[in-house]
Amino acid sequence: MCTDIKYTLDSDILEYINECLTKEHPESYLIAVLHRIQEKYGFLSEIHMDEVAHLLGVPTANVYGVSTFYHFFRLKPRGKFAISICLGTACFVKGADSILAEFKKELGIDLGDTTIDGLFSIESSRCIGVCALAPVVTINDEVFSRVKPTQVGDILNLMKGKRSAEKIAENS
Ligand code: FES
Repeated sequence: MCTDIKYTLDSDILEYINECLTKEHPESYLIAVLHRIQEKYGFLSEIHMDEVAHLLGVPTANVYGVSTFYHFFRLKPRGKFAISICLGTACFVKGADSILAEFKKELGIDLGDTTIDGLFSIESSRCIGVCALAPVVTINDEVFSRVKPTQVGDILNLMKGKRSAEKIAENS
């Protein structure tokens, strides 16, 4: 590894990349490295992707290509409340697209985006295995079942209420 360059990646990630560099075909560890970065920072930032390209000696375009190809990589930070709408078949049949449309309208953001205040982000998921509860929305670890578009405002208010309660607790 080149030592005169200051990287923004944390030392544990740099150590892992160094370990990969000792192996045959270090470039084949690209996805594993990106996974570690996302696990640590929650998403893949441009600067981190550039650093990975430099350190692993692969073209930057390849790193961006891999990051955008796979559904599980996020290129933007998640909101404090990560809203995920299941678009699996059972949920879709029961109107998941209308729920998604309602969240987008209420928050003024698109799928994959985060509100400016960093509070909410909208993602979609494939079947999460609870089709009997379709259509399903998860927000962080909380599952909302048989959601109707008319409930979207209430769900968002519930989350805002949680945030306010946390703030009060932090300041007391
Ligand atoms: S399709 Fe949504 S939980 Fe199975």
